This record gives sequence, structure tokens and C-alpha cells, in this order.
Amino acid sequence: MSSRGTFSNKFGFIMAAAGSAVGLGNIWGFPFKAANGGGAAFLFIYILCCFILCFPVMITEISIGRNTTKNAIGAFPKLGFPKWRFVGFIGVFCGVMILSFYNVVASWAFGYFLNLSIGNFEIGNHFADFTKDIYTIIIYAFIFMFITGFIISKGVTKGIEQASKIMMPTLFAILIGLVLYSLTLPNAVIGVSYYLIPDFSEVSISTIYIALGQAFFSLSLGMGMQLTYGSYVNKADNIVSSAMWITLTDLSVAFLAGFMMFPIIAYMNNGDMSNVTGGPGLIFVTLPGVFETLGTVTGSIVGSLFFLLLCFAALTSTISLLEVPVAWCVDELKMNRSIATWGTALIIFILGIPCVLANGYSDFWTNFITYGGKETPTDYLSFVNDFASELLLPLGGTIMTFFAAYIWKTKNMNEEICLGYPNYKGSFVELFLNFTVKYFCPVILFIIFIFTILNKFFGITIF
Ligand code: TRP
Repeated sequence: MSSRGTFSNKFGFIMAAAGSAVGLGNIWGFPFKAANGGGAAFLFIYILCCFILCFPVMITEISIGRNTTKNAIGAFPKLGFPKWRFVGFIGVFCGVMILSFYNVVASWAFGYFLNLSIGNFEIGNHFADFTKDIYTIIIYAFIFMFITGFIISKGVTKGIEQASKIMMPTLFAILIGLVLYSLTLPNAVIGVSYYLIPDFSEVSISTIYIALGQAFFSLSLGMGMQLTYGSYVNKADNIVSSAMWITLTDLSVAFLAGFMMFPIIAYMNNGDMSNVTGGPGLIFVTLPGVFETLGTVTGSIVGSLFFLLLCFAALTSTISLLEVPVAWCVDELKMNRSIATWGTALIIFILGIPCVLANGYSDFWTNFITYGGKETPTDYLSFVNDFASELLLPLGGTIMTFFAAYIWKTKNMNEEICLGYPNYKGSFVELFLNFTVKYFCPVILFIIFIFTILNKFFGITIF
């Protein structure tokens, strides 16, 4: 067993799993969804989603992993339910798809980091050309996948854990530094108010659904990633408190990211927050111009730090995504870890090439498919994101909690949790987890899954 590797202690596990959770989603997803979804009102709903819906799913995954010391697919036969292996297959497939596009987006951040560190602010005016310069992007994407593979090939302790222990604190320090700097810019207060002033008129059923989708993706749930990392956790560790730390870390990074972004936007728009849009456009088009106005030296320092932050956030996430198929190859197919790593990394890199072409270079991949009642076609990269992140993850979460509650049984899960948490039996936490894993999570997640199909793919909005 020890040849699979383990995290050396609880801190190592928390850094690795929080590293997976903290990613691009926290920095360009959360703050904008919050601002558009009613500010503090959204934050409140988001926190509820994290703790009532996501936290139990995370504990479920970690317990299955630790109990079986197996990968996302092999865990099910190990528990005695070989037919349920399909859940793991969906998970691995989903992870491979997510990593294939995530790596491409990460490679843009990487390219921007290189450009801004030499003071090339102009890049922001040429984002479309930048993404269409496919040979350069392919090289960046190759390098990013190579670094990911390099860390994974080193194994759990020396690779994943070591890298996360360096990158996560650095990321936190850069983030705090950038937040403090942003808050000194003119109009910072306007930015912060725009971000946080509660507006309940913006809250509807779809807000809840957006918050949940964001929380689920952000906490890396629903595809066996937490299960895989869980399989490297020591029996004596308290899973409940680890999961709490992971959730809190992810939440605080998302929350702080807003304090970095909105003051910058307010500064740029001279306090006019009437048409703020988030996403790649903001990060890759607008921000470089803002950095330029700070002056060449300050601008390149702040700008390159910002993109370094994105790269670190992305890298701790890409390693977690790659580990899922690699763990399967090592455990079940008995492959050597290096071969498994470089083989899967190469396949996923190749699967990502259509995502590189989907930004204007190739008409076929750019106008890939039309759905969801939209007039214009969706590009391949966005399609994979919709399909894997928004559809398969809630489905995975539904099946996983259903499995833990009714097939494996909550009693067994509780025994696993108890190993590192002797006072668990009879506690409020046990009551809470029993209720959520049995009834609340499977039902609500399934409803969300159905809504997503109707809304995203057929353009039907029920509420
Ligand atoms: N959580 C990461 C983010 O917010 C992305 C991520 C990493 C992920 N591993 C995952 C998403 C596993 C879903 C499943 O950017």
C-alpha cells in the first residue's frame, strides 16, 4: 500500500486539497457572479451552498477514498460494489475533459505572465490575436502540462504535497499584497460597495443554482478528485476538520479575490460601475491596460504578480485533475507512475488542442454547436466546460451521495469518519451529515442536474 504514497500529515493534505479547490474559478468566476447576483446576498447563499450542500459531498468523497485507499474507479469494487465502477468512469472522463480545456486557459495566464513581466502591456489590446496565434499557445499549453506532469510524476508526498506547500502560501501572500495595493487606488470604496452591497432584488431561484454550480466546481467536487486525494490521507486524521479547512480556504480566496478585482475596475472606470463584465475579457483585455496606467515598473510588478497568482492557482488545480486518471492507471492497470503520468498528460494535451483552435482560428471548433435556445453557436471550449463542469459534476455528486447513503450505507461512512474523530458518534456533526448525505444532497443535486439540462441545453428556464 505504501507504494501508492500518502500525505505526510494533515497540513499537507489540506494544502493539496485546498490547492485543488483554489483555482481560476475563484478569481474570475466567483467575484463577478457575486457582484451580479446581489453582492452580500449572493455571498450569503454561496456560503450556505458550501456548508450545507458541498461540505457533506466532500466528506463523502474523502471517506470513500480513505476507507478504500483506492482511486476513483477502483474504490467501488473494493467496497464490494463492482457495478458502481461506472461512477468512477464518469468521474475520470469528466476530469480529463475539464483538464483539457483548463490547461489551455491556464496557458493564456502563463503567456500573459511572461509578457507582463517584460512590460509588454500591449498584449491586452491583442487578446484575440494572442489566442489565435495557435503555435505559441500550443507551446505554452505544452509547457504548462509538462510542469503539471513533472509534479505528478514525483508522487504524492514529494510531488503534489511539496508543490502545494510552496505554492499555496505564496499564492496567499501575493493575493493579500494585491488586495492591499488595490485598496489604495482611487475609487476603491466604490468598487468594494459594488461588490458587496446586498441587493435582494437580484436574488432568484437561478441565483441559488448559479451559486451552487460555482461552489461545486470551486471545491473540486463530483468527479472523484477529493476521493483520490482522500485515499492518501492517514487513518488518524480528522476528515471533518480537514474538510472544514479546505472549504474555508477556498471560500476566503474567492472572497478576497473580489477585494482585489473591484477596486481595480472602479479605478479604471473612474468609479463608474454601470457595465462591468467578468470572465476572460476582463482579465485578459482590460486588466493589462489598467496595469499600464500604474507606470512601467509598478505596472509590470503588479501585472506579473497578478498573472503569477493565476498560474499558481491553476497549477495546484491541474495537478489534482491529472492525479485522478494517473491514480487509476497506477492502481488498476498496474502501470509505473512515470509512464502513467506522461501517457495521460500527453493524451489530455492532445485533447486540448481543439480548445486552442476554438478561439477564432478554426471555424469548425469556434462555431462548434448551437444549443440552449441561443442564436449563435457555442465554441468547443465553452461547450466542454458546460458539459463537464456544469452537467457531469452535479450528476457525479448526486450519484456519489446516493451511493454512500444507500449502497455503502451511512453507518460505514460514519465508522470511517470516527477513526480520526473519536467524539463524532452521537455528535451534532453526525446528525447533520446523516441528514444531508441521505436526503438533502442527493435530492437537491439531482434537481440542479435536471435544471441544468433544461436551462443550459434546451434554453428552458423554469423560474
Ligand atoms: N476547483 C478548481 C477551480 O476553482 C478547478 C478544479 C480542480 C476542479 N480540480 C477539479 C473542478 C476537480 C472540478 C473537479 O478553478
